[in-house]
This record gives sequence, structure tokens and C-alpha cells, in this order.
Amino acid sequence: MSHRNEATAALKALSVATDACRECPLGAYATQSVFGEGPVGAVLMVVGEQPGDKEDLVGRPFVGPSGKLFDRAVAELGWSRDKLYVTNAVKHFKYELRGKRRIHKTPAQREADACHHWLESEMELVQPRGYIALGGTAARSLLGRPVAVMKERGQWIVDEATGRRVLVTLHPSALLRGDPAQREAAWKAWLKDLSVASSLVKKAAVKKPVEKKPSPRPAASHARRRVRMVME
Ligand code: URA
Repeated sequence: MSHRNEATAALKALSVATDACRECPLGAYATQSVFGEGPVGAVLMVVGEQPGDKEDLVGRPFVGPSGKLFDRAVAELGWSRDKLYVTNAVKHFKYELRGKRRIHKTPAQREADACHHWLESEMELVQPRGYIALGGTAARSLLGRPVAVMKERGQWIVDEATGRRVLVTLHPSALLRGDPAQREAAWKAWLKDLSVASSLVKKAAVKKPVEKKPSPRPAASHARRRVRMVME
């Protein structure tokens, strides 16, 4: 099997395994887990916080109101969503019930920590050239430290420990919740942040994808171990 097919199969197995994950309490209350989607070798991995109400019901990331806004930005930037790998730091929806409505609740750090190994496996298998962190939870998961989004937004941050390049910006829900009078300015500033990744996306569009040769020491060893563990 090619490296790409093997990694795609491993992602599928991990996706199934997240559904059964009870390493934190969230899985018991959600409809299903929402794993990442997109191709192995995607130029960018886009990481959100956690699935919302719609994503929980549909089982796919960023298909609700935040996802619609993200799709608008992707179109405006001339990117193509099916070339991105889109996922979340936390794989189950956390909410509180108000009457019949399920209201989003920010995941606790211990919940994000418990979920982190799934994201780590996705990163190892997808091997993107850069990461976009949408909001503070995603930024902390990717950089391993608290991140002041408004201070650090709109520039590549290289994580010294891993060499990963992370572009931090606001979560789209912040734009949806923001002051209507500021909405246009906030939208433009968000697009400007995201556009920092455009040169990477465009470069990848002209380069032919490289089929990775299997190395004697598998690159995705952590992810492979996880797949073995969840399948046993
Ligand atoms: N918000 C997120 O962070 N992720 C989703 O998938 C949907 C909303």
C-alpha cells in the first residue's frame, strides 16, 4: 500500500476510535465524535476548537455557521477547502442544555489535553506544511502554551520543539458574535490574517505532490502505535 493510502486508512481507523473515546466525559453526551477531514499531504491543517451543534449532528467539522463563514473566507482567498485538512482540537461537542437548546461550552483545558493525542496523530499522518489555529484553544493545542490570540495573530509562529509553522487567528464564531458595527472591519482583518498562508497554498498548487517513500523508521510512528492500539 502507498504511504498516502496507508495514512488515509489510519486516519479512518482513528476517526472510528475517537467515537468510542471516553478519556474525558464529553463523549458520553455528544451524538458522535467529529474527526478531521481532508487529504493526506494537505498543504494546510486548519484547527478549530470543537464541533458545534450542527457538526455534532452531521459528524463533519465546520459545517455550521462558523463553517459557512470559514467557507466564505476560503472562497474569497481563492483557496479550495477540499485541499485543506480541517479538524478540531477537541473531537466531541461540549454544551449545556437551555430548554431544548444545546449551547456551546468552551472545553476545559483537561478535556483539550485528553484529546490532544488524536490531533497529534492527525498531524503525523497528514504532514501539512503549515497550520492555522482558529482561536485560543486550537492555538494552545498546536503550540503547547497559552496564546494571546489578539497579540499573536496574523503571522507564522514556528514552534521550536516541533518545527511546526502555526498561523494564529480568531475563531470565526468571534466574528459572528462581535459588534455588528465592527463586523466589516473584523472580517477584513480576519481575511488579512488568513492571507498570510496564501503563498503556501499557491506554491503547493503548482508543485506536484511528492509520494513519500516509506522510511526505515516510520515518520508517523506515534500515529501508527495509536492505530495498532485502537484496533487491538
Ligand atoms: N467550531 C469549531 O471550532 N469547529 C467546528 O467544527 C465547528 C464550530
